[in-house]
Amino acid sequence: MNSLVKKIDENISAMIQISMLNLIKLGLKYGIFNKLTIKRHYADILGSSPIRNKPLLKSLLDTYVEVGILEKGINEIKMKNFSYTMTLNRGSVQHMLPSWVPIFEEIYKMVDYAFISPEHPKILMDFDKDADFWDMRLSLEFNSNYRKLIVSIGKLKDEMRVLDLGCGSVSPIEIGKFLGPNGEYVGVDFSPGIMSIAKQRIQNLGFDWVTLKEIDIRVIKPKTKYDVVIMSFILEYIDNIQKVMKNAMEALEEKGKLIIVEPFRENYPNIEAWEFFERLTREFVEFPKKSSIIESLEDDGYTYRIQEVGKSILMIEKL
Ligand SMILES: C[S@@+](CC[C@H](N)C(=O)[O-])C[C@H]1O[C@@H](n2cnc3c(N)ncnc32)[C@H](O)[C@@H]1O
Repeated sequence: MNSLVKKIDENISAMIQISMLNLIKLGLKYGIFNKLTIKRHYADILGSSPIRNKPLLKSLLDTYVEVGILEKGINEIKMKNFSYTMTLNRGSVQHMLPSWVPIFEEIYKMVDYAFISPEHPKILMDFDKDADFWDMRLSLEFNSNYRKLIVSIGKLKDEMRVLDLGCGSVSPIEIGKFLGPNGEYVGVDFSPGIMSIAKQRIQNLGFDWVTLKEIDIRVIKPKTKYDVVIMSFILEYIDNIQKVMKNAMEALEEKGKLIIVEPFRENYPNIEAWEFFERLTREFVEFPKKSSIIESLEDDGYTYRIQEVGKSILMIEKL
């Protein structure tokens, strides 16, 4: 289990570091940095750049400020002297999974098209229209690894009842298979495209203990209770975390467990670099803070026990 935890955390760190390098590359490629060796007005930079998608250019400039490449005054920005070190040590490289790198490269390339127009057909990050690209992403070994960890820490087995919020196209199979034939896996996701991929697979496999529901998790009102609720890489698309956390906690039996997988932002420096690229998905808000999740539990008055598994998983037991 320890090696799975390391794999997840180390690969997330590498995703952020490679995103940082690609973020820097954009500034060089689009002549942004050389214009900012002297202080300039935001409006000048936005107006003079050949990049047509001004909101995305603004988001890039803001990201440069967040990661410390640019400094911001009132309506003005300027480059800082900036240095960035990426460390490759044998201890972390041994956990590296190569297969996500080409997928991330595709995403980095999509920014060039997004700079032309936010609706450019070569941007493949829409959950519904680009369900096939999302399915490729969700089928990566990295994703299978955190699912294995969910199964292990949640002690998932036949006869248990599991609710997976924002389940995507792969978890219903990779997690669902552990709960049959006498248990239940209920997957909820709002994307018809993603759900049709998942439904076809479930039907082909004959997993009749798996139910898939096409609903927005912000509006569900769970009536049944589950042993385990899963939320993996979903809170980053939710603007009101507290409401969804409440829905998740309400769906738990007493002593039930909520398992959340996310790159919690206080654990990962420069996470804003990765977020810049994830914003190509319209619904992306930001990677959540661990502390916001805990605050939401406190505000709603839950009694709970919390366990941190590495830097990217929280397991919350409802008492
Ligand atoms: C990054 S994927 C993660 C999928 C899955 N949890 C996994 O780890 O493989 C996010 C999924 O959440 C779904 N999603 C995003 N916002 C949602 C919402 N408000 N309600 C339901 N599903 C949502 C998307 O359609 C997508 O399938």
